[in-house]
This record gives sequence, structure tokens and C-alpha cells, in this order.
Amino acid sequence: MVMKLLLEPLKAGNLSLKNRLVFPPIATSKAMDDGKVGRAILDYYDEKTRSGLIGLTITEHSFISIQGKASRNQLSVGDESVIDGLRKLTETIHRNGSVAVAQINHSGSVAAREITGLDALAPSSIPNPRKPGKDVPRQLTKLEIGGIVSDFASAARRVKEAGYDGVEIHSAHGFLLNQFFSPLTNQRSDEYGGKVENRFRIHLEIIAAVKKIVGNDFPILLRLGASDYREGGITIQNSELAAQAFEKAGVDILDISGGLNGYTAPAGDEGPGYFAPLSCAIKQKVNIPVILAGGVMRAEEAERLLEERKADLIGVGRAIRNDSDWAEKELARTDI
Ligand SMILES: Cc1cc2nc3c(=O)[nH]c(=O)nc-3n(C[C@H](O)[C@H](O)[C@H](O)COP(=O)(O)O)c2cc1C
Repeated sequence: MVMKLLLEPLKAGNLSLKNRLVFPPIATSKAMDDGKVGRAILDYYDEKTRSGLIGLTITEHSFISIQGKASRNQLSVGDESVIDGLRKLTETIHRNGSVAVAQINHSGSVAAREITGLDALAPSSIPNPRKPGKDVPRQLTKLEIGGIVSDFASAARRVKEAGYDGVEIHSAHGFLLNQFFSPLTNQRSDEYGGKVENRFRIHLEIIAAVKKIVGNDFPILLRLGASDYREGGITIQNSELAAQAFEKAGVDILDISGGLNGYTAPAGDEGPGYFAPLSCAIKQKVNIPVILAGGVMRAEEAERLLEERKADLIGVGRAIRNDSDWAEKELARTDI
């Protein structure tokens, strides 16, 4: 089977991708203690992209402020001092012929006091369902929500200054924006809670603030945890509405993944492209490209998902994490 669609270029907003293969964000814990780029992380991304076959590299979730830091040795986009290091990272990825996008994140109730030295904050005072036993977070005030919106915008500006080609806003896997979107973790009674439009209000505020600071032509991606796979959680209908609103607000690419269930396969749906029911439903509601990642181990599987119009771009995470030569080997094997 020749990889026709996988090797087809794609233009999305101002992003020009040479093919449909994405290396999705994978936390490495290889940043320096203060979140700066060091040799280890540069070598890692050099190795992962050196095949020259990865159209789009989305670097791992990076904290926009100490309060939103999820784990030790997480990469930072939280202050001006990190920009020079991030510039080396984008230069490395560009040298290997890949487009570079940075994923920016606030972990909300996932953040732990032993890492941040601060109380965890969340839309509502509800412990994170993915982290039983963690501290009960304090509910964010409206003033603090405004501060988080502007922290996302400042982080996006640093991303642009560091030479990235675009920025990805993280709203999946149980982190802060997922916590706002999910009725299980958002029980606010103000304009940020309740009906679905309120639960993605902060997302729209962030998109607008990012655009204001980086300009309308800087590409914005959004990773959406499109279902919590839990009773009372985010539904695909919620996500279809949100996706349309994000497109209207100027998001260039939607990257579809899981919500409070994380990035792993929902029970009973464990094949290659296990989030395809979500990405496919969303793709039918929007005109912007959609990324699907999850369970793809073979190039043929990626090609088939594209053929079946389940998505426009395919993320291959763990297979490349485990074998940096994955793309080279797969394309050599399938080009017969
Ligand atoms: C160790 C590890 C770290 C990850 N870190 C992130 C991350 O920083 N941000 C994110 O959105 N997803 C993260 N993911 C999820 C991946 O981007 C991807 O969606 C997931 O692994 C499913 O794709 P795969 O089956 O091809 O690996 C991580 C996954 C793994 C295994």
C-alpha cells in the first residue's frame, strides 16, 4: 500500500505542512529544573524529527505560570527568560524540516502544592477526578480567570517570539480548560458555568486574547478533550458546538483527544485511531482541519483513517516515542 494521503501537503491558515504526519505533544520531563530548555530536550526533539518526515511537531505541554505547572521538569513558557532556549528548540525542529507548534497549558486542579508551592486552583472546588487523593482546589475568582486568560496570551507571545510556527491551547486530559468544559468539574453559577456555551467561554476569551497579542495571522490550534466518557461529563454534542465556536473565533486546526479519561483508549474502542468517532463527528461540523491521535502503530492505519475521512492529520505518539526511526521505517516498508 503506497502512502498517498499521508504524504499529501496541507495548508491551514498560515501553516504549510508538507504531509499529514504529526508528532503529538508528549511530555518528556527533560526540561531543566526551572522549566528551561537544556541539552537533553534539544537532543530529544532533534532525534524525534531528524527523519525529515514529520510534517508537524507539537512540543509537549508547557506551563504558562508556576500556578499551572503540572510536574517536575515540565517545559515552561511562563516568563521571558525561557524564550532564548525555546528559540534553540524551534531552530532544531526547523532544521529537520518540520513545522513547530508549542502546546501551552495550565493544569488547574492537577497542580500539586509540593511542585508549585501554591494552592491548586480550579473552576470549582472539586478534586480532579483523574487524581484521586490530590488536594481539594480552591475555586477561581473572576479576577483570577482574567489573569489566566492573559497568562495564556503572554505565553503565546513568547511562543511566537521563540520562532514557533503556531501555538496549541490545551483543553484535554483533565487539565484546567478541560475542567472548565466538563460539567463534572465545573459547577459554577456565574457566566463560566452551567450551559455549554458558558463552559467554553474561557476558551473563547483565551483565543481572542491570543489573537490580540500575536495577530490574526499567527496559527492557533486547540486540543479538545471531546468526551469525558463518563456519566454527566463532556458529550460529543457539547464538543460539536464548541468546535464550531472555536472555528468561528479563528482557530486554524482542531486536535481531538480525550477529556477526563485522558489520552488512552476508551473501553471497548481500542483500535488504531480510537478517538475516530469523536474526530469524525467534529470534522463533519467544521471546515478547518482536524488531527486524530491514538493507537496508530502502522503507516497503513494512518492512511486508512485519512481515506475514511476520520481526520485530516494523524498523530503518532507512542510509536515514535519508542522508535525515533518509525516514520523512515514505515514509509520504506509501505512504499512498494
Ligand atoms: C508519556 C506521554 C506523555 C504525553 N504528554 C502529552 C502532553 O504533554 N500533551 C498532550 O496533549 N498529550 C500528551 N500525551 C498524549 C499524546 O499526545 C497522544 O495523544 C497519545 O499518546 C495517543 O496517541 P498514541 O497512541 O499515538 O501515543 C502524552 C502521551 C504519553 C504516552
